[in-house]
Amino acid sequence: MHSDHREIPGSRAARKDEHVDLALDQRGAAARNEFDELDFVHQALGGVDADRIDLGVTIPFGAGARHDAGEWHWRTPFYVNGMTGGTERTTRINRELAIAARETGMPMACGSVSVALDDPDAARGFAVIRAENPDGFVMANVGVGRPAADAPRAVELLGADALQVHVNAVQETVMPEGSRDFSSWLSSVEQLAAASPVPVIVKEVGFGLSRATLRRLSDIGVRLADVSGRGGTDFLRIENARREAGEYAMLTGFGQSALASLLDAPADAPTLLASGGVRTPYDVVKALAAGARAVGVAGAFLEAVGPDGTGGGAERLIALVEDWKARTRAVYALLGATTRDELLATDLILRGRLREFCADRGVD
Ligand code: FNR
Repeated sequence: MHSDHREIPGSRAARKDEHVDLALDQRGAAARNEFDELDFVHQALGGVDADRIDLGVTIPFGAGARHDAGEWHWRTPFYVNGMTGGTERTTRINRELAIAARETGMPMACGSVSVALDDPDAARGFAVIRAENPDGFVMANVGVGRPAADAPRAVELLGADALQVHVNAVQETVMPEGSRDFSSWLSSVEQLAAASPVPVIVKEVGFGLSRATLRRLSDIGVRLADVSGRGGTDFLRIENARREAGEYAMLTGFGQSALASLLDAPADAPTLLASGGVRTPYDVVKALAAGARAVGVAGAFLEAVGPDGTGGGAERLIALVEDWKARTRAVYALLGATTRDELLATDLILRGRLREFCADRGVD
């Protein structure tokens, strides 16, 4: 992902493979993050029958310049978040992800399609997603700063149902070839959203969306946002690793977690999706209880399919997703919720840095 459309396609393609390798290097023993700082008050007699649980979620969105208001119904409360595409390896990864998405009824986003808009040879790496999953819910992805005309082009490339627009100022700051001028980003988001024939989801890439940012998005007519917070795949570390001297390690810990972003969100926020640091189905349930309508997973699902799609491939991801569904259902039953909306009635306990953040921000 990168918003500069003047870059030569070859180096950008190489970066796609590097991102996959560096993101996978960060996996391993599940690191602690702020999902560990939210607990539920246990109600020993409050559980329900797991067979009554509906894991489906409804995602409402308001009208945009080129689409009506409506709502999506997703069969799973989690989705494959935007990652990759455009090189041989990442095309294989996208194919495996798309097969798993089809077989499990899970929505899926691709990585930034900019590379394919500039280089038609790379388009196959994205079109494969729709080819493998003709009836599924598919999201295209572009970076802020791209020309508005790229919004319909990106959507067309995948026959996409939604368009993710990523805002990644922290990553750009650390990236050797990154942008240093963010002054036009709000108006760029507005223009991309106005030009898109399908609803736009503005997303971070692992640093969170603040109360003020969500309000600004609402003000310019953005109806959906994925807060994608700190605590999972860390693009500060990834881009630092791509620099010789790691000069930007000083920013380690910058940004907000997904839970902090959700709890801090204003009442007039766009419809909220969450991602960033989701390791288990329990993290999914926590994000839903904190206000997300659905939850995106990138690193953990990439790890399942493997570095070139031949690790565990689709088969391993399908097994993982079926296991996540079963365990999500089990946690709903334990918490006494038959639907995502009923999770909102649970009592939450906050600890540590998450609690401090919420106290500082006056969140009750
Ligand atoms: C990403 N992510 C990402 N996001 C985006 O909007 N466009 C993109 O092109 C990419 N590229 C990308 C590549 C790889 C290899 C990974 C792992 C991730 C970010 C992703 O959607 C998500 O916001 C973060 O990864 C945080 O979620 P996880 O990984 O902690 O679940």
